[in-house]
Amino acid sequence: MAAPLICPSILSADFARLGEEVAAIQAAGADWVHIDVMDGHFVPNLTIGPAVVRALRPHTTLPFDVHLMVAPVDPWLEAYREAGADVLSVHPESGPHVHRTLGRIRQLGARAGLVLNPGTPVEALDPVIDLVDLVLVMSVNPGFGGQAFLDTALRKIAAVRARLDAAGSSATLQVDGGVTADNAAACVAAGADALVAGTAAFRGGPSAYAANIAALKGAPAAA
Ligand code: DX5
Ligand code: ZN
Repeated sequence: MAAPLICPSILSADFARLGEEVAAIQAAGADWVHIDVMDGHFVPNLTIGPAVVRALRPHTTLPFDVHLMVAPVDPWLEAYREAGADVLSVHPESGPHVHRTLGRIRQLGARAGLVLNPGTPVEALDPVIDLVDLVLVMSVNPGFGGQAFLDTALRKIAAVRARLDAAGSSATLQVDGGVTADNAAACVAAGADALVAGTAAFRGGPSAYAANIAALKGAPAAA
């Protein structure tokens, strides 16, 4: 089985040193930088505006994977794209016309992601499957880092994998929330090819990042 892409969520980084933090996770072997954008309305937390994304852009060459937890989301797409987002992922509940939103993201030249909350049925993917470059299965309810992984996500991952394969889609299947070295292999076995990790990636500070990322990729623990 191929090693999954590891996408550390900077929600768990040191916000006073964000530039150094993204450089450090790149040096430690991260594949993408996951950026959690929360609006205090769609989710009960307030995080990162486009100005911060723009300020981070020169500090790493990794793709910026921007998870928008904002409603309404449409007015923000262009600002995050211009700030340097490579992937823009949206929740179907965050606007009235998710089909149009995904099309708009592609029009802006970014990869379009659809996010499925724990309470969102997998069927939400079907009408837009040809418009997505990424499907993000939430394994916690969005809003905070450090929550426990919901095992029901494994069935959801397998169901999304079956749908993508049946449609001949090469979209990335990503999992987000409570991912650790202990459940990473189960996510990959269920069909995930990208893992978001906040707590498990940033725990222990910069000197631990390489080992944290290797453990998430499924490398055997160092002797
Ligand atoms: C939750 C966010 C996640 C979160 C992951 O709303 O979308 O990306 O920061 O953090 P951990 O890995 O700590 O659950
Ligand atoms: Zn996220």
